[in-house]
Amino acid sequence: MKKALLISLAILSGILSYAQTGANRISIIPQPVSIVTGTGNFVLPSDLAIITGNNEDVKRTAGFLSKTLSSLTGINVAIKEGSGSTSKSIFLTLGADKTIPKEGYRMKVAADGVSIIASDAAGIFYGVQTLLQLLPNNNAVREWVIPAVTITDYPRFGWRGLMLDVSRHFFTKQQVKDYIDEMVKYKFNLLHLHLSDDQGWRIEIKSLPKLTEVGAWRVDKTGTFGRFSNPLPNEPKNYGGFYTQDDIREIVQYAKDRYVNILPEIDMPGHSLAAIASYPELTSTPGTYAVNSGEQLMVWPGGGQHFYGLIDNSLCPAKENVYDFIDKVFTELAQLFPFEYIHMGGDETARNFWEKSDDIKALMKKEKLKDLNEVQSYFVKRVEKIINSKGKKLIGWDEILEGGLAPNAAVMSWRGMKGGIEAAKQGHEVVMSPTDFAYLDYMQGDAAIEPPVYATLRLKKAYEFEPVPDGVNASLIKGGQANLWTEQVYNIRHLQYMMWPRGFAIAEALWSPKDRRNWNDFAKRVESHFGRLEAEGVNYSPSIYDPIIEATKQDTTVVVKLSTEIEGLSIHYSFDNSFPDQFYPKYTSPLTVPKDASVMKLITSRDNKVIGRLIVIPVADLRRRAGIR
Ligand code: ACM
Repeated sequence: MKKALLISLAILSGILSYAQTGANRISIIPQPVSIVTGTGNFVLPSDLAIITGNNEDVKRTAGFLSKTLSSLTGINVAIKEGSGSTSKSIFLTLGADKTIPKEGYRMKVAADGVSIIASDAAGIFYGVQTLLQLLPNNNAVREWVIPAVTITDYPRFGWRGLMLDVSRHFFTKQQVKDYIDEMVKYKFNLLHLHLSDDQGWRIEIKSLPKLTEVGAWRVDKTGTFGRFSNPLPNEPKNYGGFYTQDDIREIVQYAKDRYVNILPEIDMPGHSLAAIASYPELTSTPGTYAVNSGEQLMVWPGGGQHFYGLIDNSLCPAKENVYDFIDKVFTELAQLFPFEYIHMGGDETARNFWEKSDDIKALMKKEKLKDLNEVQSYFVKRVEKIINSKGKKLIGWDEILEGGLAPNAAVMSWRGMKGGIEAAKQGHEVVMSPTDFAYLDYMQGDAAIEPPVYATLRLKKAYEFEPVPDGVNASLIKGGQANLWTEQVYNIRHLQYMMWPRGFAIAEALWSPKDRRNWNDFAKRVESHFGRLEAEGVNYSPSIYDPIIEATKQDTTVVVKLSTEIEGLSIHYSFDNSFPDQFYPKYTSPLTVPKDASVMKLITSRDNKVIGRLIVIPVADLRRRAGIR
């Protein structure tokens, strides 16, 4: 008897110490509103059941949970309709507590089972996502236990979005569904699909068949997008694809079952080359056009000068047939997407062809438009009327403010927060998605190692995203979103690499209370979720382990300052061409690059083990960064 007691105590303490130490530290992203840890664990029994009421939505969520638990643990998890307190089960209870906010839930895990209570089905779904994050973060465990805990949770914002650009590179219906599966684990509830651009039209419009016969296809190129050679006349246009209307209905339903709205974007008047290649009469400039394959299309001179297009990729605001086209597109879109908004793009419209157009000059005279901002505003206002006539609301990138905002439009602020602030001051709804914090196409670490893109956004900066600026009516800020443009994203593995872990940071900015956010704590949780992504076979960027490199000029030489984004790393370096490891000199203070060195190599370590990736930077690059010629 005594022996049996000792053995059970030993097993129990093993489980307890397992539950309380590294492997199963409670590590939820986004951070819940409140977590109170209890004692003990719920050990999943071999006859585990999920108990629901008779609500179909909750039963569907129970189905997801059962499937995930069964495939993780090998336990055959039953779903039963019922109530009460049969022990050793997971109870999903709807409607029992009306004090729980929309999409929120209350969860209690104790040794005798789990209870998730919510006032709507979405809340049950999010409670289940949290429950799954309480399981051990890898598949190598012997015992499936969930630590005792009480969680109260609900979102800070109702719009928790991710934008996926399926135009520059096409992602299949299945890949979009997989993306939805990943995003909901982190409680995102909106997928914005960027369905058209210069590089491809991605949705079937039955009344305009050339959009997908012509506009969905381009020459396939590999290398660095934006710098490709011009396609030759005989090169096949075999890269691309599109979603049929049946595909869209399937994606919309798949998303709905997981509490995700889909926001469709058709970008106009700029970024419209795929439409123009299909129907050239839509531009101000007569000619023949082809879908862009990644060769240079726009010029960004900088220094305050307006960008311009090398060919005309804008719809012509002066042509009535353009509004007929838009009406046809939005008629079909409005029938396919139940979400209340349609996104009309509106960003980065080149003006140089408009300047030369007689049609536009005539329009300006007729409508008394004093400049091209007002021409653009005239266009947006007409588009808004079309969108409203289909029973939908217009949202657009912040350029739609230029020349005067359309009366009911919502603004998606991307060029920083200022467009959002201005729109909110004018009483319009706003979604914040500023490049400074939320552009997931940017590099996440040093340019010496990351695939080259326009700019850098490290995880720590993304984590500082605060969607409500001071002095703005917070009720007009619907929430925020992260944008994943795919000019340089050629495949799904790289898409995942760009998405995680910065998607975690944005998820937390949009869900968790402001005062629950803490970088050092978040960074630890991120590492725990790396284990989850690995177990699922999802790629992520390890750039939080890469050093931050600052090169400055001192007389004729370069001084290199190194730091790290996360705590507890050491940086080791070499200037002698060899490969540094954890035994190499440790960085403690700024380094003067030796006069004859040609390359600097860096690696990071933790607990005497190499953890980061090798970074190799030619000294010539360091000199360039420091401004030495
Ligand atoms: C954008 O990034 N051009 C909206």
